[in-house]
Amino acid sequence: TWTMVNIVEETVEKIRAVAGDKQVICGLSGGVDSAVAAALVQRAVGDKLTCVFVDHGLMREGEAEQVERDYVAATGVDLHVVDAVEQFVSELKGVSDPEEKRKIIGREFIRVFEHAARDIVAKAGAEGDTVEFLVQGTLYPDVVESGGGEGAANIKSHHNVGGLPEDLQFTLIEPLRTLFKDEVRAVGEQLGLPAEIVWRQPFPGPGLAIRIIGSVDHARLEVLRRADAIARAELTAAGLDRDVWQFPVVLLADVHSVGVQGDGRTYGHPIVLRPVSSEDAMTADWSRLPYELIERISTRITNEVGEVNRVVLDVTSKPPGTIEWE
Ligand code: XMP
Repeated sequence: TWTMVNIVEETVEKIRAVAGDKQVICGLSGGVDSAVAAALVQRAVGDKLTCVFVDHGLMREGEAEQVERDYVAATGVDLHVVDAVEQFVSELKGVSDPEEKRKIIGREFIRVFEHAARDIVAKAGAEGDTVEFLVQGTLYPDVVESGGGEGAANIKSHHNVGGLPEDLQFTLIEPLRTLFKDEVRAVGEQLGLPAEIVWRQPFPGPGLAIRIIGSVDHARLEVLRRADAIARAELTAAGLDRDVWQFPVVLLADVHSVGVQGDGRTYGHPIVLRPVSSEDAMTADWSRLPYELIERISTRITNEVGEVNRVVLDVTSKPPGTIEWE
């Protein structure tokens, strides 16, 4: 539409005015926000932009491959991939406090970006040059809920707003800071990004780390990743992807539930299904998914994922619950 063309053009102009011909990096998470932010910046500064994909091991099944393949195919952007799985998982070891997890993840992201920035400059052979700008896909609701908006309380420090270190070496470019998700999607379509990217359900930057209630380790990540993959596959197979705003699958890793499977009693963990409907993530309602779909997901998870002997459905709206469990 006319307004979207305007928003895109104005934003691109503003980015160009700020960034000039300096090097810019943008972290890609696989989500809509960082993808659209990067596409806007690419339009403004062209090959001065390098995207960085940090594989922190907290992604869902197939996500890392998707970014490496689909996003590059769609945009032709320069992609710098960093394998930081061990770094993140070891820094998170033994940590179960959610804000602490976010802080650690935010800090490690910046460490990786700083390191990547040096590599990118070295590769470009631009001696004495530095990467001055870091693009973040911060949206208006992130600003409000992290306490950055006027008079707003700090509900949750989303890592891409509240979790940045004080001695940050980059100047932030946040082209989506005034937009809501539906507007970001419209901008993405305007920029010609493919539907698989534009219509992806939101997924938090700290990834599966904040969907494991308890501390994070490889084994727990694997359990959650498999349960999540089943829930996503079944939702897609039912043709309901666009009816659901977001579908967190949560592992209650510190809770033990008793079950009976096969020949005996088991002592496992519950998985929580948290499908929600929403307009902007500021408020939400639990999605009334068909019982047959919930049944299929539950049966498959308890059959196919060892360690899980119970599946529960979250029927809380936001407020009073938040979308994520932590
Ligand atoms: P809540 O759980 O506060 O979430 O209702 C609102 C929206 O924000 C996402 N979320 C995050 N996104 N970093 C992010 O990038 C975070 O730390 C974070 N915590 C929550 C959540 O998935 C939902 O879309």
